[in-house]
This record gives sequence, structure tokens and C-alpha cells, in this order.
Amino acid sequence: MRRILITGSTGQIGSELTVELRRKFGGENVISTGHKRRPTGSALASGPFEFLDLDKEEEILTIVRRYDIDTIYHLAAILSAKGEEDPKMAWNVNMKSLINILEVARKEKVEKVFWPSSIAVFGPSSPRDNTPQETILNPTTMYGLTKVTGELLCNYYFHKFGLDVRSLRYPGIISSETLPGGGTSDYAVAMFYDAIRSGRYACYVRKDTELPMMYMPDCIEATIGIMMADAGRLKRHDAYNVAGMSFSAGALAEEISRHIPGFECTYEPDSRQKIADSWPRSVDDSAAHKEWGWKPKYDIRSMTEDMIQKVRAKLSNAGKG
Ligand code: SER
Repeated sequence: MRRILITGSTGQIGSELTVELRRKFGGENVISTGHKRRPTGSALASGPFEFLDLDKEEEILTIVRRYDIDTIYHLAAILSAKGEEDPKMAWNVNMKSLINILEVARKEKVEKVFWPSSIAVFGPSSPRDNTPQETILNPTTMYGLTKVTGELLCNYYFHKFGLDVRSLRYPGIISSETLPGGGTSDYAVAMFYDAIRSGRYACYVRKDTELPMMYMPDCIEATIGIMMADAGRLKRHDAYNVAGMSFSAGALAEEISRHIPGFECTYEPDSRQKIADSWPRSVDDSAAHKEWGWKPKYDIRSMTEDMIQKVRAKLSNAGKG
């Protein structure tokens, strides 16, 4: 069997995707890569790991050849809030890594590439409710710019070289395993940790800020789902809107209070408010439903229940350790 390569495999999504792909296809067949630290945790550390500088096309080429890679999940990226601190770095990291991956993939005849886009492709003049698949894309963050350009690039490689690139516009992703870093939607994860630790959270967006969100099990399902979909069914090779749920920061705080009575959330908007205000409140993902059978399982209630249980167990184990 040929093998799968994952970039950004120690990140929020990569860490859980690696474990699930290893469960499905065997530990030895999934090569995790990163540039900062070796993965820890038994499941994530259970298969091959390589340090990889995505700035260097020849390093990617060497690993693709060494392991006879036929599928790449390219997840490494700088997210929206961090990207605003150093826009040039965000452009360089996000765009250079993507074009290097696409180049190696086409030259080495890699069969499929997954690359995540984001709701950040939308901007202040895109419709904010039930945002259509096809609409105005005028992002105001550098992260959003790299996602729009990335979508065009993926589509270009599909049409020009026949490379089977598939992509999703991820909403904010909520998970308990690995903390997100540098995103605007991170408050939806941080709120759980602070609620359980201290019963209070100072939220950096307004109470009425509503964004599309998705729980990690649905995110993994969508990611593997689009990669497994019959190529003939997919009409797009830029990126599909995918929705899980949409809620305001206030609604999440209320839902958490049902499990942690007395939980107190205060709202102290910072520069991330402007980014959140430029994104949709909800997206229309009917094309994903129709073309490759996307169907999320979690809503705010079931996600919150599961998150509370998992984060509690995690923090109490950490306390014991
Ligand atoms: N979660 C990302 C961010 O907040 C959006 O794709 O930057």
C-alpha cells in the first residue's frame, strides 16, 4: 500500500486526523510531519514522524519519494489572528508551503491532496447569513487572502495538471485534544478550559458575536469524507462550504452554564472582534450535502456535553500527573 503524508500533524486538527487515519489505514502508513517538536502522546507518536521544512520543495520531495506517498493532507498554516501580527510571514508560510506541496504532488504523481480553506475567504461585503458557496470573496485578513489565493491555486492545479486537490472551508473548530493557536475562533475552546478551571472566562469577542463552528469529530469526518468521495461526484476543486452549527459567544456561555452553574463570562473585545465581524454568521453547505454526502452529527448541545466531559477528564489527569 502506498502511504499518506500529513503536514502540521501536531496542530489542533492534524493531531486528531493523524490518529484517525492511522486507525483506518495502519500506523506505519501515515507519515506525520512537523517543524517544531516531535509529537508526544502514544497514539500520535505511534507511527513514523519526520521534521519537514515546507519552505524547501526538495525536502518535501525527498519524503514523498522515501515513503512512496500517494495522498497528502497539507494542514500546516498560520491562522487569522497570528497572521495579522505579521502579515508578510503569514503570506510566505501559507502560500509557499502550498505551492511547494502542489508542485511535488504533480511531479511525483501523488493521487490526492487535501488542503483546508476557511470561512475567512469571506469578507465584509459577502452575505453574512447562510453565506452561499459562490459569492463575493473580499477578505480583510492576510489569512483570508491566503485562503482565497489558495483556493484559486488548487483549482488551477486541478485544471492545468489534473491534480486531484480537494478542500473544505472550515468554520471555527472546537476540540479537546490539542489547543488551537492563533485563530479568531479560539475563544470557543478557551471558554471550556477556563469555565472548568475557574468558573469564569473573559471573552475577547462581544456576547452577540455569532460564527459558524464545528466539533472535531465532524471535522475529521468531513475531511476524510471528501477525500474518500467518488471523484466523479465532485464538481469543485476550489473548496466546499461546510457547516456544523452556528452560535453566539453568549449562547455558548449559556450552554456551558447548564453544566457549570455559576459560570461567569465577561466580554472584553480586542482586535479579533473586527476579524470575527468580517466573517459569516452561518454558511450554506448544500453543495457539500448534495455532491459528497456531508452530514454533521453534533449541535451546540451535544458538542458542549462531550467537551465538558473530555476537558474535565483531561484537566483532572493533568492534575494527577
Ligand atoms: N479558525 C480559524 C481562525 O480563527 C478560521 O479558519 O483563524
